[in-house]
Amino acid sequence: MKVIGINGSARKGWNTQSLVMKALDGAASMGAETELINLYSEPLKGCLECFACKRKGNKTGGICAIRDNMRPILEKAHEADAVIVGSPNFFGYPSAMTRAFIERFLYPLSSYMMKDGQHVRLLGDRVIPAGMIFTMNADPKSYEMMNYQATLGATTANLQYVLGYAEQYNSYMTLQFKDYSAMNANMFDGDQRVYRHETQFPIDERKCFEMGRRLVAKAKELNQ
Ligand SMILES: Cc1cc2nc3c(=O)[nH]c(=O)nc-3n(C[C@H](O)[C@H](O)[C@H](O)COP(=O)(O)O)c2cc1C
Repeated sequence: MKVIGINGSARKGWNTQSLVMKALDGAASMGAETELINLYSEPLKGCLECFACKRKGNKTGGICAIRDNMRPILEKAHEADAVIVGSPNFFGYPSAMTRAFIERFLYPLSSYMMKDGQHVRLLGDRVIPAGMIFTMNADPKSYEMMNYQATLGATTANLQYVLGYAEQYNSYMTLQFKDYSAMNANMFDGDQRVYRHETQFPIDERKCFEMGRRLVAKAKELNQ
């Protein structure tokens, strides 16, 4: 079993990467080989709408045809038994690089072909269980008020539809700055954020660890 973790935050060692790594630890505890990929290590492009993956007789095999630095990441995602994607909530959406990855991973696997009233699955019977982790400033109440699930949840829904299984975990009220007193940010209570980071964030880590374990179990169960 191979599980890859995609960090869609530019900040290494912060909230998103930490949770993706915990999910990978969970997968590793189930015997999976794991790898973490930081999407912001180099500039990446989203889908260019070349439609090579949609042309009749194309030989893309469901992997984006563009040969650039996203390609090795997509090959690993395609080969993986499970994929864990982490992203900060940026204005209600996944980060730009997360979106670039999602576009180029999912679009070549999204079928415009119908058979017996159903989309033809380009993965055939294969399921790639996916975990989607979002980190954010919002608390659960403002998450609802801002209707973030409509936009963030769309990514999870697309992972579910194309890959066959997906689940989502939200980490709320994350620690954004090391020193809130040095920032123009008095809408946040720095002490409260530090306290939450010490008390709630370890729970988020444990939940993501469990998600990693579940995804490996799902990969085994759904691909027998
Ligand atoms: C450009 C930008 C936009 C953001 N927009 C939102 C937002 O709309 N809602 C929210 O709850 N948090 C928002 N945040 C906060 C981040 O989602 C949050 O700090 C996240 O945990 C950062 O992840 P990291 O610590 O892994 O870098 C935003 C942060 C940045 C930098």
